[in-house]
Amino acid sequence: MSQEQNRPLRVGLLGIGTVGSGTFTVLKRNQEEIRRRAGHGIEITMVADLNTERAREVVGDAAQVVADARQVIANPDIDVVVELIGGYGIAKALVLEAIAAGKHVVTANKALLAVHGTEIFAAAREKGVMVAFEAAVAGGIPIIKALREGLTANQIQWVAGIINGTTNFILSEMRDKGLDFDVVLKEAQRLGYAEADPTFDIEGVDAAHKATLMSAIAFGVPVQFDKAHVEGITKLSATDIKYAEQLGYRIKLLGIARRQEINGKVVGIELRTHPTLVPMRRLIANVEGAMNAVMVQGDAVGTTMYYGKGAGSEPTASAVVADLVDIARLLDVDPAARVPYLAFQPDALSKMPILPIDEVVTSFYLRLHVADEAGVLAKITGILAEQGISIDAVLQREADEVSGEGGNQTDLIILTHETKEGRMNTALAAMQALPTVLAPIVRVRKEELA
Ligand code: NDP
Ligand code: HSE
Repeated sequence: MSQEQNRPLRVGLLGIGTVGSGTFTVLKRNQEEIRRRAGHGIEITMVADLNTERAREVVGDAAQVVADARQVIANPDIDVVVELIGGYGIAKALVLEAIAAGKHVVTANKALLAVHGTEIFAAAREKGVMVAFEAAVAGGIPIIKALREGLTANQIQWVAGIINGTTNFILSEMRDKGLDFDVVLKEAQRLGYAEADPTFDIEGVDAAHKATLMSAIAFGVPVQFDKAHVEGITKLSATDIKYAEQLGYRIKLLGIARRQEINGKVVGIELRTHPTLVPMRRLIANVEGAMNAVMVQGDAVGTTMYYGKGAGSEPTASAVVADLVDIARLLDVDPAARVPYLAFQPDALSKMPILPIDEVVTSFYLRLHVADEAGVLAKITGILAEQGISIDAVLQREADEVSGEGGNQTDLIILTHETKEGRMNTALAAMQALPTVLAPIVRVRKEELA
C-alpha cells in the first residue's frame, strides 16, 4: 500500500477502552508535533467498539463510530488497524483479517502475540504489512525498540523485568500500607492497570506473555509461551516478604529470559516468570507501585535498565502512537528493508530450546518450619550437600518469637547459591520427608542480577 504525498495516515481503532481512549486523546493533543515527526498527519478516522455510545463520548464528531469491527477492516480508506480489544478470541480473527485485507496492524495485545505470534507474523510477512506491538511489553517503556534496534549489536545474555504493573502495585501496597491483597487488586482494576481477567495478572500469565515476546526478540527464537514457566504472586505470604527484607532482599514478580551457557556452550533459553528475591541495593528492587522496569544484559553494552509506567491509558497510548509514527515513516519502504518483527530475519531464527524448569539454574530462598531440636539444621544442610547445593546464609528465628513463649517450633530460613532447579526439587522432597519439618517448605527463587 503506498500513500499519496502528505495524505494523513488513516487509522481504524478496534476497541476504545482504557488504551484506545488514551490513544485517541494523545494523538489529538499532540497532532502537530506528531505530524512534524512522522512527515504525515495521523488521524483516527474510524472506531469500532461494542459500546458505541461510550465511544462517541470519547471521539465526538472526529471519527465514524461503528459497532462492527469488520466494517473498519473492510474500509479501503483505512491504512492501519489498531487492535485494542484484547484476548485471543475475536482479536485474533480481526488481526488476521486486517492483515489479509492488506492493512498494517498495531496491537497492545501481548496475550495474542505470545500465543499466536508465529502465525500472525507469517501472515503479515506474506502480505508485506507491518505488525507493531511496542505497547504489548511494559506499556510506555520503549523496550521492544531498545531490544530490537538500540541493542542490536549485542549478544543478549539475559533480560529480567518487572513487567506487570498490577502485581508490582499489589506487592508494594501490601508491604508499605499493610493492605489486604483483595483491596489492592480492586484498586488496580479501578486504575485500569489490571487485565479484563485479573487472574492473568496475579497468576503471572500476563508477565509470562511479555517475557515470551522479549525472549523471542532477545535471542532470535520463535514465540513459545507454551514452554514458559509461569508462577504468580497468589501463594506469596507476608511472612516471606518480611524475612526477605530482613536478609536484604525484596520480592518482585520477575519475567526472566536467559541464555544458559555451560562451559561456554549455549544449552538453551530459560523462560520463566515467578516471584523472585532481588537484593535491595539493586535499582530494580526499588521499582514500586505500577511502575515497570526491565534490565537487559548485553555482552558489549553491559547492564542497561529501562524504567517507566507499564500500564494505564496514556502511558500505553504513548507506545501505540509511537508505532503509528513508525508505520507512517516506513509506509513506502520495501518490506524486506524494514526491521524484522522479531529483530532477527525470519529465516535466521534459532532452534535453541526453551529449557524445562528443572534445568534452570538459580539460587533459592527456603523457609522451613521445623521442630526446634538438636540436629535438625545438620540434617537439612546434609541433604542440601548431598545434592551439591551450597548454602549462602542461614537465619534461625527464636522459637519463642515463632511459636510463642516456651514454644518448640521455629522457622529456618536458608539462602542457597546457584543450583539446577531439578537438584533443589530432589533436596526439597528429602527435606519435606523429615519428621522434624512440620509444614510445607516455602521456596522462592533468588536472582542477584549482578
Ligand atoms: P478495555 O477492556 O479497557 O478496552 C477494550 C475495549 O474493546 C472495550 O471498550 C470493549 O467494549 C471493546 N470491545 C470488546 N470486544 C469488541 C469487539 N468485538 N469489537 C469492538 N470492540 C470491542 O481494555 P484495555 O484498553 O485495558 O486493553 C486493550 C489491550 O491493551 C489489551 O490487549 C490489553 O492487554 C492491552 N494493554 C492494556 C494496558 C492497560 O494498561 N490497560 C497496558 C498494555 C497493554 P466493552 O467494554 O463493551 O466490552
Ligand atoms: N495488566 C497489565 C499490567 C497491563 O498490570 O501490567 C499492562 O500490560
